[in-house]
Amino acid sequence: MLLEARGIVKAFGAFHAVAGADLLLEESELIGLIGPNGAGKSTFFNCLSGDARPTAGTIRFRGTEVTALPPAAHARLGLARTFQVPIVFDTMTVRENVMVGAFLRHPHRRAAAAKADEVLAFTGLAEQANLPATALGTPGRKRLEIARALATEPVLLLLDEALAGLPSAEVEAAIDLVRRIHESGVTLIVVEHIMEVIHRLTRRVLVFHQGRVIAEGTPAEVTADPAVITAYLGRRAHK
Ligand SMILES: Nc1ncnc2c1ncn2[C@@H]1O[C@H](COP(=O)(O)OP(=O)(O)OP(=O)(O)O)[C@@H](O)[C@H]1O
Ligand SMILES: [Mg+2]
Repeated sequence: MLLEARGIVKAFGAFHAVAGADLLLEESELIGLIGPNGAGKSTFFNCLSGDARPTAGTIRFRGTEVTALPPAAHARLGLARTFQVPIVFDTMTVRENVMVGAFLRHPHRRAAAAKADEVLAFTGLAEQANLPATALGTPGRKRLEIARALATEPVLLLLDEALAGLPSAEVEAAIDLVRRIHESGVTLIVVEHIMEVIHRLTRRVLVFHQGRVIAEGTPAEVTADPAVITAYLGRRAHK
């Protein structure tokens, strides 16, 4: 088992954003995580990546208990993530942004730059390498975040709505990128609202609602599940 999260709770005061969620993930899977707005998907990612400390529950990654470890420890073990709203270093160039990730495994500048260039080519950002990160629009910033994450040479990559808000031409390119990342041997969990993307990318999906996993199966199975339909449409729609 690559990742084992059991009974994860994340409370903000009396409110449980994640309310007892489990996730078991085998190496080389590509799974989808869906659910209505506010279901707790990003908060669950934060728990998995060490950006938030779970209130309860246990997370094991590659056999190590990581529940209370900081994000840097997760990164060293091979977990990388992107954020729903891309976070890039505005005062740096595109290449320097990716080097920040590359320094994790390549402490020498020259090696980090070489790693960054390899990842920039892979992610289609090579031509923008010397531009300031501020020159990129939203699609470019999302791509840059993925590039920085890949530069850490992850075993597991968590993508939080990496395709949301992209124009349709960019969506195709992004689907292709996610596929190529997977084919390169990286295990992925993708949070995504566009069901068509989920159908095309994944064969196993978890559905979050009110901080819990309410359904799990193929994209076709979960979209036909009455509990999932009710969660998306609201209770009254199915009374
Ligand atoms: N730091 C925080 N303090 C208080 N409440 C929070 C905090 N972070 C998230 N929440 C709440 O937890 C719930 C889950 O939020 P989360 O962002 O994890 O949902 P999500 O499934 O990612 O939603 P979306 O699809 O809109 O991105 C929401 O009600 C949100 O307002
Ligand atoms: Mg979210």
